[in-house]
Formats: sequence, C-alpha cells, structure tokens
Amino acid sequence: MKIIFLGPPGSGKGTQAKLIEQKFNIRFVSVGDIIRNEIKNSTLLGLKIKDIQNNGYLISDDIIIDMVKNIIIDEKNLILDGFPRTLNQAKFLLAMKINIDIIININVEDEIIIKRLKYRLINKKSHKSYNLIYNKPKIKNKDDITGGFLTLRADDKYLTILKRLKIYKNTIDNIIFLLKEVGKIKQININGTNNIIDIFNEIEKILYEKNIRI
Ligand code: AP5
Ligand code: MG
Repeated sequence: MKIIFLGPPGSGKGTQAKLIEQKFNIRFVSVGDIIRNEIKNSTLLGLKIKDIQNNGYLISDDIIIDMVKNIIIDEKNLILDGFPRTLNQAKFLLAMKINIDIIININVEDEIIIKRLKYRLINKKSHKSYNLIYNKPKIKNKDDITGGFLTLRADDKYLTILKRLKIYKNTIDNIIFLLKEVGKIKQININGTNNIIDIFNEIEKILYEKNIRI
C-alpha cells in the first residue's frame, strides 16, 4: 500500500502521516525530514542544500530523486510526504511504475497556515511537530516521544512561508493532473481545518472504505 500526502505547507501532512505510521506501523517518508537530517548532521549534502531549504526554495530534482529512489522502489508499504513536488519527480514515479494507491490531499487556507506555522515547534530527532496553540506537547518544550527539546523550523519565517506557499500553488495542479491522467491515481480531498483527531479518523475511514489494506 502506497499513499501520497499532498497539501500546502502547514496543512498537517506530517502530523497525519505520523499518526498513521504509529497506528499501522507503515513507513512514513518525509523528504523534508530527510533533508533536515542531512543539515542537522552537517553532511556534505546537508551543507550544500541547507540555505535552499531554509530559504523556502525547492532542492533540485536530481538530488531529491537520488535521495528517495531506493526507499520508494524497495518499500512495499509507504506514506510519501513531500514527494512528488515537481513534474519531473511525478514523472519519475510514473516511469518507475510505482503503484500509488491513493493521493490524500489536505486543504487549508493561507491565513490558518500562517498562524499554524508561526506557532509550530518540532523535535529534530523524532521529527514530530507540535503547536503552541493547537497541538501542545505533554510537557512544555519537550518532545512526547524522545523527551528532547523542541525548536522552531528555520523555514517557518513569515516571508519564507509566503514563498513556500507560492511555490506550492504554482506547481501542485500540474502534478496532480499528471498523476491522475497518466497514473490513474485516485485523489481524496480532506478539509485540513478540522481538528487533528477528526481528520485522522476521516483518513482511516477512507482507507478502509477504499479497501486499502494496511
Ligand atoms: P517539508 O518539510 O515537506 O515542508 P512543507 O511541505 O512546507 O510542509 P510542512 O512540513 O511545513 O507542513 P505539514 O503539512 O507537514 O504540517 P504539520 O503536520 O507540520 O519541506 C520543507 C522544504 O524541504 C521545502 O521547502 C524544500 O526546500 C525541501 N523539500 C522537501 N521535499 C522536497 C521535494 N520533493 N523536492 C524539492 N525540495 C523538497 O503541521 C503544521 C502545524 O500545524 C504544526 O504546528 C501542527 O501541530 C499544526 N497542525 C497540524 N494539523 C492541525 C490541525 N488539524 N489543526 C490545528 N493545528 C494543526
Ligand atoms: Mg511536514
């Protein structure tokens, strides 16, 4: 079973994918998290792409495809968060004949996204994301999973958020069009402004209804 999570920055892709991963023990691959790991570990690649990610731009397709191709090809069950993000990445998926069962597309308006990202905290090890208003950790400033400290994301600055939203809007329609027309992949739209648990229940129900075995 392979699922693609799509949605603008801050729509809750990572939050929902993490809940599905925890409940169903299915591997969740967030390209953004893989990049943040490279940056955190100051690898050669991390140093090369640090400024690009922190400033809200997309990393080049060759780097991204190289980063994820083995995982995508080898894993039978997978949630993809943050891939594909360009037409070339979508073409790669189709060319590799990766069987995607469903696209879960989470929609949230810009004003809500800006509010959410302003108050987002993450843990760099577990990659779990929290919110000072909507989704607080059990212990203040500590990750529920690792107990480690929570920090802000470098690309969650106001102007960088606007840039990320613009890039998303400029690219996403063509990507979805291609995946649906050529790949015949079904799309489910989710209202991402509902509360986290309601959205999770909705996604779970959809997966059962569509007979997608987890
Ligand atoms: P990535 O890490 O994928 O970031 P993004 O797409 O901008 O999305 P976010 O992670 O910001 O949001 P999310 O939807 O996961 O929301 P979350 O669950 O955290 O990518 C970052 C960068 O990496 C890119 O800009 C690019 O540089 C690079 N990159 C990544 N993939 C790439 C690719 N394929 N090609 C090229 N470059 C790539 O939730 C957000 C906040 O809202 C949290 O505080 C959360 O607690 C809260 N929240 C979540 N759900 C709810 C809810 N229902 N109600 C209230 N609050 C909620
Ligand atoms: Mg995310």
